[in-house]
Amino acid sequence: MTTTNNAATRAVYSRRRARLAAKLGPTGVAIIPTAPERPRNRDTDFPYRHDSYFYYLTGFTEPNAWLVITGEGLTALFCQPKDLEREIWDGYRLGPEAAPAALGLDAASSVADLDTRLPQLLENRSTVWWPFATHEGLETRIDGWLQKVRSRVRFGALCPTEQRDACAILDEMRLVKDLHEQAIMRRAAQISAQAHVRAMQTSARMLRDGRDVREFHLEAELLHEFRMGGSQYPAYTSIVAAGANACVLHYRADEAPVRAGELVLIDAGCELDGYASDITRTFPASGKFTGPQRELYDLVLASQDAAVAATRAGARFNDPHEATVRVLAQGMLDVGLLDANTVGTAQDVIEQRAYFPFYMHRTGHWLGMDVHDCGSYVEPTEVGQVSERCDPLSGETIKDRPSRILKPGMVLTIEPGLYVRPGPGVPEKFHHIGIRIEDDAIVTEAGCELITRGVPVKAAEIEALMAQ
Ligand code: GLY
Ligand code: MN
Ligand code: MN
Repeated sequence: MTTTNNAATRAVYSRRRARLAAKLGPTGVAIIPTAPERPRNRDTDFPYRHDSYFYYLTGFTEPNAWLVITGEGLTALFCQPKDLEREIWDGYRLGPEAAPAALGLDAASSVADLDTRLPQLLENRSTVWWPFATHEGLETRIDGWLQKVRSRVRFGALCPTEQRDACAILDEMRLVKDLHEQAIMRRAAQISAQAHVRAMQTSARMLRDGRDVREFHLEAELLHEFRMGGSQYPAYTSIVAAGANACVLHYRADEAPVRAGELVLIDAGCELDGYASDITRTFPASGKFTGPQRELYDLVLASQDAAVAATRAGARFNDPHEATVRVLAQGMLDVGLLDANTVGTAQDVIEQRAYFPFYMHRTGHWLGMDVHDCGSYVEPTEVGQVSERCDPLSGETIKDRPSRILKPGMVLTIEPGLYVRPGPGVPEKFHHIGIRIEDDAIVTEAGCELITRGVPVKAAEIEALMAQ
């Protein structure tokens, strides 16, 4: 990733900082650290990933960096100082001298000056904003700086009297993706879609060639395509689940054999320039669905179609989920996963959550810099409208609040599924079939833009692709 932003990109970050500053109040100040480096073993770290809030405001990807923004809109970066010896070992550092011009900030200092400069920056401010519950030890550091300010009150210094959660502002900002973000997310989605195409074709080809295909072989194809597309890393640990493994929701890519006649569920997406993509496709390992597989696949796809049709500005976040559940509930009765004599009508299935053994997750989540991105799922203007109901399965009391009203630029996944474990009355032909279909959608005025359809989703199109 770049450490120097061009003028247009600098303007993007600077507009975001100005929007944040305007919400801090004239005597507010915000402190936003990036993420720490994390050791993996002895002296080797996990690949470094910046903090999403920090990156959203700077575009800066080096570790050991902090951003301070005042309510007047003054911005100061604390970053690693230039150090030839460290740079020989660890790589280039932008350094405080070059940072203001490169990133469009007012000032920059060495991160070594943090403990001296922060008390000065907090002095005579009323409110300190920082991201609550995101960085271990941050609260203690801020306490230390506040104590230093307090020690100077007898010299006339005013100490902040209020601390507030910066995430409350930043989550709302990040929820609606600007054009810069949408463009990156489209590119990330294209790379991931291509990776799924590659994995499908490899599966069919290797099986045609009589090879011993394992889940990790398909994962390797995904990773190859991610990297070839310029992605820095996978957005999350890839799921490559052959056969019955697809019924394990958080399965990883392991070493199970990929067998002709079985389905493979792949849930994998790359991260590109700080933004995630998140795609799931389920396909027949050797390229042709069996009858029962196809029956359930078409049902999940119909439920996804219904969810897509329910996704548009003005609709609620829960609408796609409810549309999915309506289609799945009726479908479960139609294909014989549920028996109408026992569970009643589709409406009964919904009210009693009788679909739950086969569909136990929600239909989507926000997507952005984080795979499960930030942003409230409750409509902020209606947060006080609480209703209570008793969950028919657990007996617990659930508090419902009106779900979020969708706006253009919000990005969410649409990912219905069906997971069939053997059980009383469950037709044997469906046993161990696990299917999920997941696409990423940008909400528009009239509907939504599916940015992940570079990989086919219709059963016949998947078969045609895999026959090539
Ligand atoms: N891959 C994570 C998810 O679909 O939520
Ligand atoms: Mn997802
Ligand atoms: Mn996923």
